Amino acid sequence: MLPIEQQLSSDARIIEERLEQLTHDSDRDYPVLFEAIRYSLLNGGKRIRPFLTLQFCRMFGGDEKTALDLGCALEMIHTYSLIHDDLPCMDDDDLRRGKPTNHIVYGEAAAVLAGDALLTEAFSVASAPSIPPEIVQPAVRLLAHAAGSFGMIGGQMLDLRGEEDRLDFDALLEMHTKKTGALIRAACLLGCFAAGITDTDDIRYQSAVVYAEHVGLAFQVIDDRLDAVGSEEDLGKPIGSDEEQGKTTFLTFMSADQALDYARDLTEQAKNAIALFPARATLDELADYLLNRTH
Ligand code: IPE
Ligand code: IPE
Ligand code: MG
Ligand code: MG
Ligand code: MG
Repeated sequence: MLPIEQQLSSDARIIEERLEQLTHDSDRDYPVLFEAIRYSLLNGGKRIRPFLTLQFCRMFGGDEKTALDLGCALEMIHTYSLIHDDLPCMDDDDLRRGKPTNHIVYGEAAAVLAGDALLTEAFSVASAPSIPPEIVQPAVRLLAHAAGSFGMIGGQMLDLRGEEDRLDFDALLEMHTKKTGALIRAACLLGCFAAGITDTDDIRYQSAVVYAEHVGLAFQVIDDRLDAVGSEEDLGKPIGSDEEQGKTTFLTFMSADQALDYARDLTEQAKNAIALFPARATLDELADYLLNRTH
């Protein structure tokens, strides 16, 4: 295992323990809701977003407990987005994180509700009394903005439009920046917030944004590439889904090799953005790891 893989897996354990505490089954009258929530939330996943939150917090010397909870709130929103993304009315996929998708196991109605609950509860986690009050306001606003119409949901809407009409390249970039980039950007900034950095003029804030935007775009370029040339076994989700749905993706505009070159260039730009920070090594390694990933 590479050092970055070891670090990811040891942090994933901490993240999963906290997610398990945060979604503990506390109501016996409708246990299926908690089961459906925990089925998707505690079911593998790379935990890249909370890892980014922890790493930005560490690089800038912040409080790890705050970063962990803010990262978990974001992972709850990400998991909700995957449950809804897989529904028959969206991408209609039946495999996620190596297991049948939520609606296949619990039915569409429970899957919709499990997603709704994860989104809503995330804001309770991000505004808990244990989070310093001066961080709660910017964190809640950032999460809402990244997840909503101007972020992930806006990107998902463009994604659906890209099934009916072919998007041009600029629209594709906008779609990826929103549907995937917005939550990755939020992950990095929440780490800054946990380190007390909320001023948009701060060079650390601005560097985090540039790193996040490039890593976020590269992440979806690689996701599109793996949908075409990856293996279902490695990915834990179906391949060929984008083509089956007639989606506009990076591979509408370039070959799989060109997509990799494009992502490589974005990764270099991400690393350059944090080059002035002495404690950047893990974030550098993470950017490379995400470029070369097979799952
Ligand atoms: C999948 O995200 C959805 C995209 C935004 C491309 P991840 O690849 O981070 O999925 P998990 O959380 O590891 O399952
Ligand atoms: C999903 O993009 C982005 C979300 C907001 C969930 P994809 O539809 O490409 O993600 P996968 O490939 O199903 O994980
Ligand atoms: Mg989708
Ligand atoms: Mg999908
Ligand atoms: Mg995909």
